[in-house]
Amino acid sequence: MVEDPAQAGAPRTGGVTRSYGDAGFRVLWDATRCIHTGICLRRLPEVFDVNARPWVRLDGASEEAVAEAIRACPTGALRYDGDRLPPEAADEPTTVTVRPNGPFYVRGRIRIQGRAGAVIAEENRVALCRCGASQNKPFCDNSHQLVQFRD
Ligand code: SF4
Ligand code: FES
Repeated sequence: MVEDPAQAGAPRTGGVTRSYGDAGFRVLWDATRCIHTGICLRRLPEVFDVNARPWVRLDGASEEAVAEAIRACPTGALRYDGDRLPPEAADEPTTVTVRPNGPFYVRGRIRIQGRAGAVIAEENRVALCRCGASQNKPFCDNSHQLVQFRD
């Protein structure tokens, strides 16, 4: 099992790959949604460190600081839950950011529906495939790099 957000080709697990912490504050990481931006690593290296095992060390910073770093994850690969902090609030207004040669980053109150209105996801942060090559549509899985997508 790949446990490193810096590695390409993380397995498609279709759900939470790892969780850290306890019922009061739990960090959830979904390898299928991590596209290795490294944002979490740069924001809070005391907590997110791909050279450590586990790669998430919750004793490295306050829970508020960890939650703030999680909110910076553009793909929703990182989330948190628990009763010690209020739930993450959605950005207002909802924004769509076009990443050069990459996905759409969407932040806000997002509901993604499939055929017949089936709800695929209700989240605050997603990265949506723009190149057509993702194996995890509608989400970006970093395949745009493999196919050398240029916009
Ligand atoms: S910020 Fe999110 S998408 Fe980027 S490396 Fe961290 S977990 Fe992965
Ligand atoms: S834009 Fe990333 S896989 Fe398509």
